[in-house]
Amino acid sequence: MGRRVLVTGGAGFIGSHTCLVLLEQGHEIVVLDNFDNSSPEALRRVQELAGSTQLTLVEGDVRDPKAVDQAFRTAGTVDGVIHFAGLKAVGESVANPLHYWDVNVNGSRVLAAAMDRHDCRTLVFSSTATVYGEPQTFPLREDMPMAPIHPYAQTKVAVEQILGALCRAGSWQVACLRYFNPVGAHPSGQIGEDPMGTPNNLFPFITQVAAGRRERLRIFGQDYATPDGTGIRDYLHVMDLAEAHGVALDRLFQRQNADPLTLNIGTGRGLSVLEVVHGFEQATGLTIPYELVERRAGDVPRLEACPQSAQTMLGWSARRTLEEMCRDGWAWQQANPTGYRNNS
Ligand code: NAD
Ligand code: UD1
Repeated sequence: MGRRVLVTGGAGFIGSHTCLVLLEQGHEIVVLDNFDNSSPEALRRVQELAGSTQLTLVEGDVRDPKAVDQAFRTAGTVDGVIHFAGLKAVGESVANPLHYWDVNVNGSRVLAAAMDRHDCRTLVFSSTATVYGEPQTFPLREDMPMAPIHPYAQTKVAVEQILGALCRAGSWQVACLRYFNPVGAHPSGQIGEDPMGTPNNLFPFITQVAAGRRERLRIFGQDYATPDGTGIRDYLHVMDLAEAHGVALDRLFQRQNADPLTLNIGTGRGLSVLEVVHGFEQATGLTIPYELVERRAGDVPRLEACPQSAQTMLGWSARRTLEEMCRDGWAWQQANPTGYRNNS
């Protein structure tokens, strides 16, 4: 059944793919985004791909109660909210923790207060695998302790705690989705990840090397206690992640008062940096020059999800392969060498 959904941060990487899935499911969407790290062009393309005009944009900041109220008024009635708007760069959070607490925590507080005012208490929240800190046992289950090691992760833990308290106070339906490493793009190559400046993350860096925009990949660390010495992560296709949001929201609409659904969203299969590089080479037929350099500060050796709870609670599991992640990410890079800027 079509619902009205408010999507904060809907123009971003994960948000844009999720908006597409929601439109394809027949939902109506209002996006609240200040374009701090995204472009309105993403939303234009989402509508084009969906063949739908059921998406309305409210440009504004999630920390601004007036902007959030405006988004609710524009929607008329909101059945549920997906809250992506936030910051995600670990290094930046170490350099500027107050900004991270303001955007991620204060933004979530302002949003939750507005939801309460507008009588909408159904929320899917973007959490992260980094809430587990530097774990020693794998795969990671949701009942393992949270042990954040930087301000970015600390802000996500704080929001999870606020949302837990709201659920205990009554009448909230919340899902905290702990994303592992989303990568790739929609298979059309029309929407994808559009980092500003030099990418921090592995996948966009690899696709920019493949495109000749950067000379070589620097692999951070070769002496981790992993089979080939490089870091292990649980990479999942962004379309699988987007679909998880659609399913989580549907699940919340069927639930009665309860604690938050806190779920890992990953594949359960960790891959090393070298495995990703070789997988990309195989999927595209290209060669990725690389050098092995020092570890990056703040990196942990390994993160790998136990995806069982998401399977049990949502009936969701990641379906797409590393080959599809590489092929689709590369298609996006080739079609949009400079992202959404100057090539529409
Ligand atoms: P993104 O930067 O592409 O998207 C975030 C969106 O929020 C952008 O469109 C940005 O313009 C918007 N935004 C930022 N601050 C805002 C504000 N104050 N008011 C309104 N809009 C604002 O990031 P993403 O990768 O799509 O991540 C989405 C969410 O998922 C974030 O909360 C992030 O912390 C979380 N997350 C991401 C990853 C990942 O690997 N990408 C992993 C775990 C969690
Ligand atoms: C990083 C953040 C994480 C955030 C996510 C999305 C850190 C420590 N973690 O996750 O909190 O949610 O991005 O923004 O920043 N790598 C290279 N060379 C590169 C880039 C990365 O070797 O140029 C390696 C890293 O050392 C790591 C792996 O590739 O082993 C994945 O890195 P990345 O894509 O940045 O993701 P995370 O560090 O897991």
